[in-house]
Amino acid sequence: MSGPVTTRRAAVAAGAAGLAAMALGACGSSDDEAGPGGDAGSPPESGGDGGEEAGEAIAEVSDVPEGGGLILEDPQVVVTQPEPGEFKAFSSICTHQNCPVAEVSEGAIHCTCHNSFFSIADGSVTQGPAPAPLPEQAITVRDGRILLD
Ligand code: FES
Repeated sequence: MSGPVTTRRAAVAAGAAGLAAMALGACGSSDDEAGPGGDAGSPPESGGDGGEEAGEAIAEVSDVPEGGGLILEDPQVVVTQPEPGEFKAFSSICTHQNCPVAEVSEGAIHCTCHNSFFSIADGSVTQGPAPAPLPEQAITVRDGRILLD
């Protein structure tokens, strides 16, 4: 038998990433009648008229510094915290020539393309050449997360 020496590879499976368990409170998601009704013809996805889903989580509140903000690339939104516990969101696309804003500091959102500044409180232009405020985006803060409506 000319079998080669068996080489054992110690494959370290690093599968168990430390996923933070989401502490879901017992909010009681509305269980609509979960019975398979069997409506022939109607698709299972119901539109829902209540609108209790606030949208996708785009950030955690802990990611947004007080008096500052967090610029996201997808979606193109800048989330700010002008006052402790108060969060705002604006389009991150500059109203001058559509550059994405580059930084948030000292209470201002800064587009470095041509040096425009916007207020983190209401998106208004504090220094041109940008001709118009950054459009505000509706958000909801829930369970420590910021959801884009
Ligand atoms: S594109 Fe922002 S200042 Fe010109």
